[in-house]
Amino acid sequence: KHIQIDAAQVDKGGHKHFMAKEIAEQPTVLTSALNYYLDETGITLPDPGLDFARIERLTMVACGTAYFACLTAKYWFEQLAGIPVEVDVASEFRYREPPIAPGTVALFVSQSGETADTLAALRYCRDKADRIVSVVNVAESSIARESDLPLPILAGAEIGVASTKAFTCQLGVLITLALKAARDKGRIDDTELATHLTALRGLPGLMNIALDQADRTRALARKLAEARDILFLGRGPMYALAHEGALKLKEISYIHAEAYASGELKHGPIALVDKTVPVIVMAPTDALFDKTVSNMQEVMARGGKVLLITDRKGADQAAEGVWNTLILPEVDPLLAPILYAIPAQQLAYFTAVAKGTDVDQPRNLAKSVTVE
Ligand code: AGP
Repeated sequence: KHIQIDAAQVDKGGHKHFMAKEIAEQPTVLTSALNYYLDETGITLPDPGLDFARIERLTMVACGTAYFACLTAKYWFEQLAGIPVEVDVASEFRYREPPIAPGTVALFVSQSGETADTLAALRYCRDKADRIVSVVNVAESSIARESDLPLPILAGAEIGVASTKAFTCQLGVLITLALKAARDKGRIDDTELATHLTALRGLPGLMNIALDQADRTRALARKLAEARDILFLGRGPMYALAHEGALKLKEISYIHAEAYASGELKHGPIALVDKTVPVIVMAPTDALFDKTVSNMQEVMARGGKVLLITDRKGADQAAEGVWNTLILPEVDPLLAPILYAIPAQQLAYFTAVAKGTDVDQPRNLAKSVTVE
């Protein structure tokens, strides 16, 4: 089944590529997603809703960018709500035949709602999980129709093969769900919930500030375009985001890039590092910042070219000796992965433009993989 969106109908809004338009749209579409779920009383899900009080565990399944959204949300559900989360790529999940115990909610994330592996994984969970929930961008898609509770992300048509606004809207819906889960479990009270929701409502404004870094990011990308290999480092939810940054870069600029938990470098990958390998460190000044900085210094000691993406406080503390920095506004650490997706997307976009690849339709890729 293919969803035909006539690209001509969705014009580029004056941008050179659909991807550029969709990166720029994120504050607006995230606002509409948040307005759908948040009202003055707090969080409201569409019927039949979902009470997390009796949920014992979550299994999250997706592919590609949607999978990295699930990896990010794992930290949120576990830290905020104390719900154990298992995350898997759909193509592995469906053949692993994982046991699904009572008290499990199976959650599927998919922009198109038609990805064959994700749909097959949903069908595997059909008569096993307590509830089938999905986070989708296409409301009338197969995955939405076959879910007990389809949750729309309201990102609007996403034409660029490389997913951008769908990713941040998926994260916006997932953090909202994790906060509701934390409240339903009684792990946070109304005051703490209200504080997080206020920060969440302020996120689109911070994204606009992050988008303003475009000129600086474009200049850095020209250098990245010369690299053969690029490493992305992060800890905690920023490690999940590092994966998304690496995927964005490789799928549109065709440069090999990979993400590593910054604490894992010394167990092998640091052998890759020399002055030809740019290392992009995603590090807001959160609880793991100091540890990430010491890993970053290990890289610099071996001649690695570090691009540090952090906030003003982080740059003041740790920018000494790095190749370059991108400074983002301070943000509630919980929301950093959503904000830091902006520079990750812009770096990939401008690197691909510098390399002259087909940004909206990269070689060998399809927007929705509806076959195995
Ligand atoms: C991401 O930029 C890619 N386009 C790809 O990995 C995509 O995320 C994956 O194919 C999943 O697609 P879906 O969200 O429509 O299921």
